[in-house]
Order: sequence, then C-alpha cells, then structure tokens
Amino acid sequence: MGKIDLEKFSRYSKPGPRYTSYPTALEFNSDFEYESYLNYLEKESGQLSLYVHLPFCRSACYFCGCNVIFTSKGDKLSRYVEYLKKELAILKEYLDSSREVIQFHFGGGTPTYYGAHELDEIVTTIKSYFPNWGEEAEISVEIDPRYFNEEQMKVFAKHGFNRISFGQQDFDERVQQEVHRVQPYDLTKKAVDLAREYGIKSINIDLIYGLPYQSLESFKETLKLVLTLDPDRLAVFNYAHVPWLKKTMRKFDETTLPSPATKLAIFQHTMEYLTQNGYQMIGMDHFAKPEDELFAAIEKGELHRNFQGYTTKGGANLIGIGLTSIGEGGYYYAQNFKDMKHYEEAIDSGKLPFERGVELSSDDYIRKAVIMEIMANFSIDIKRAEEEFGIDFREYFAPSLASLEEFVSAELVTLSEDKLQVSQTGALLIRNIAMVFDAYMQKYSGSKKSFSKTV
Ligand SMILES: C[S@@+](CC[C@H](N)C(=O)[O-])C[C@H]1O[C@@H](n2cnc3c(N)ncnc32)[C@H](O)[C@@H]1O
Repeated sequence: MGKIDLEKFSRYSKPGPRYTSYPTALEFNSDFEYESYLNYLEKESGQLSLYVHLPFCRSACYFCGCNVIFTSKGDKLSRYVEYLKKELAILKEYLDSSREVIQFHFGGGTPTYYGAHELDEIVTTIKSYFPNWGEEAEISVEIDPRYFNEEQMKVFAKHGFNRISFGQQDFDERVQQEVHRVQPYDLTKKAVDLAREYGIKSINIDLIYGLPYQSLESFKETLKLVLTLDPDRLAVFNYAHVPWLKKTMRKFDETTLPSPATKLAIFQHTMEYLTQNGYQMIGMDHFAKPEDELFAAIEKGELHRNFQGYTTKGGANLIGIGLTSIGEGGYYYAQNFKDMKHYEEAIDSGKLPFERGVELSSDDYIRKAVIMEIMANFSIDIKRAEEEFGIDFREYFAPSLASLEEFVSAELVTLSEDKLQVSQTGALLIRNIAMVFDAYMQKYSGSKKSFSKTV
C-alpha cells in the first residue's frame, strides 16, 4: 500500500457502527415480538453457535466497552451460575437441544475470574443440556492473563477447548498505567506458554490502538513484542471511545488520546508490519496466518461477521446465554437483560430473559447481507445479491450508490457490472463505506453520542 494522506483521511472520522449486527443494537427495542422469535427457535433444526457471557471482573480496565460487572464478592459469581442453569433449563423448552453445536464461546467480563471448579461446573451443565457437539466444533474462551492458572487450563483442556483469546491491548507501561491494566510481557508469555503446553493450537491476542499516550513509535514496540509470542491470530481493535455510555472512559484526559491522523498511521503501520511478518488481514481488525481457516474463508468469499467478530460459522443459529447476550438467527436478533435484577426476575418467572430485540424487515435482511459481506470480504458480489434477493442492485441501492460516489472518485472503491470492490487503502475506511448501505444512518446523522468514531 502506498503512503496515504493522513490529514485527508482524518476528515472521514465520524461516528459510525462497527456492524457486528445490522440493524445495529440502537434499533433493538422492547416492543419486539418475543413470541415470533420463540416460534422461530422452536422450528429450527440447524447447527448452533452458543455464546455464554460471564460478566464479572475484579477491577476496571478504563477503556472497556464490554458489558461487565466489577465485584470482589464470590457469592455474586456463584449466584450467577445458578441463574445460568435456570436459563438453560428454560431455553431447553424452546429449542431442540439435540441440535449440533459447532461453535461455543465464553465471553466476558473475565471468564477466568471464575475458578477452575466453577468453570468446570458451568461447561458440564451446558454440555448436559446440549450434548451434541460437532467433531470439529470451535470451542473458545476469552482470557485475561492476569487471571489464569493451570487448574483452569486443565478444565478447558478436559472439555476440548481449542481456541484461546488473550487480552493484552498494549505493552507500553505508561499506556498500561493510564488504562488501569498493568500486565507485563512475562505474564502474558507465561499464559500463552501454558495454553500451548495444553495443546491449544489457535491463540489470539487482542490489541487496541487509540488508547491514551499511544504513539506510532510506542505501538511499533507493542507489535514487535506481540510477534515474539507467535500468536496464530491477532485482533487489533480501533479503540471505541464512548464515554457517554461507559463511565470509566471519562477518566481519560481526552487530550492524551492519539489524533485520527496518528491512529491512521498506527493502523497503516500495523497492516504493513503484520503482512510483512506473514499475517493476512481478515476483515477490518483481524490478522491471521495463511494456514488459518479464516484465511481460506476469505479466499472463498465465505467469511462472516457477527457479535463474536469474524467467523467461518456464519450459517449457525447464534444463541446468547447469560446477562446481555445476543442471539441471532433468520430474521431476528434478541438480547438478554443488561441489568442483573431484571435478568434474575425474568428467569424467576420462568421466562427467557429477553430485554429487547428486532425482527428484520425484508429491506433490513437484504441490507444486512450486503453490509456484512462488505465488512467481511471488502467486496460485494452484485450478481449473487441480485439472484438471491430478486432485486436490480443498481436500482434498489440507487441512493447508496450515489453516496458511494465520493469513495469511487477517491479510488477507494471500484464498481463494475457485477462487483463492488474496496481497495486496500479503502479498507481503512470500511465502516464509512458500509454506512452508505445503512438505511438508519440518516436518523443518527446529527447525533454525536450514537457510535464511536470510524477513524
Ligand atoms: C471482554 S474483553 C476480553 C476478556 C478479558 N476480560 C480481557 O480483558 O482480557 C474483550 C476484548 O474487547 C476489546 N475491547 C474492550 N473494550 C474496547 C473498546 N472500548 N474499544 C475497542 N476494543 C475494546 C479488548 O481488546 C478486549 O480484549
């Protein structure tokens, strides 16, 4: 990639979704018809992807945008396990639980804030409700290396976990102190070594750019260090700064956040450096070695995007279990309560703890397919979309294509008879490009407090 004009590109910095769903979570609402979602679940018989949210953390990482609960009270953790069990029992009434599980993910929070014994109890319970796990099932967990020991690793190994994602974010001491997460290199190395000792073949490490006090120089060091751990995958997230939603982010002095131009320089360097070192960029923020299945999926144009990021298992019905978890399938998204009290009350009254959701219109459904394709594969197969949805692409998306013109004339996108292709440089602005296909953008155009910035 040639050098880009960072100042020019900075002008594209504006609030925009990350498109882990379409419509975005802002469109989820409490008027949502749960009954029709439950009817859908009852009828389905395909493969399952299970997401289980373990929300607790010992202390706050100030940058964190996830749904977490800070606590030092062990009884809160145990009480939640009891509610997970009850939720699973209710779920079984609506779902054919003999369906094949092809993907399982423990997210958080900090799943390994739970000790080995409770982790074992949770996985054993889930397996008792969902006994049919595919031979090749992808079984993964997010781990904070500061809370990880061999006993826990033994439990994961026993249950066939084959992917681990470690949170690192940055190795720079100053940045670590500022974000309230001091995690020295040796600690992460020990965690990675432990996982490898127990046969984990796919290790991911999360980094974030855009944090306080980060510079191009400091991030170059972080990248060098992370490669000494030889991760199979890397996620390099653009820091989503949403202080109106997350109180801990208000602790940052915003003048210490790198400018959009610095962030672009960091990410451009990241793309170049990781590519030179044998990684391939996957979607907007992932990198993987060429032998990774994500890479093969890209080659075949079969990479998908959902709440778990990028995946090869796009066809499976995603079931969210636990506080704030989101399920996805067919024409639906459904999200569980974010508030523990409401979550528990729903379960106590024998209901699935849905707080909100959305049933997609046929227009949502078409746009979802197009936006997810562009977010995952940086291209749209126009002919395929026309055949699948019975539309004339150019006519259906005329206003979107008019908005796309600025990207076409800047040579960030090329549009031919049957293909829309985002260029390598255009990949830096993939969220902006996807936004032209989003029917809800108009609604948020005046609002600064909707989404994090795209650059
Ligand atoms: C729940 S955490 C991972 C598990 C574990 N608690 C940890 O921190 O290691 C999920 C990941 O989301 C990413 N993340 C969290 N907040 C973010 C934000 N505001 N912007 C971008 N990425 C974020 C981080 O890279 C983090 O590792």
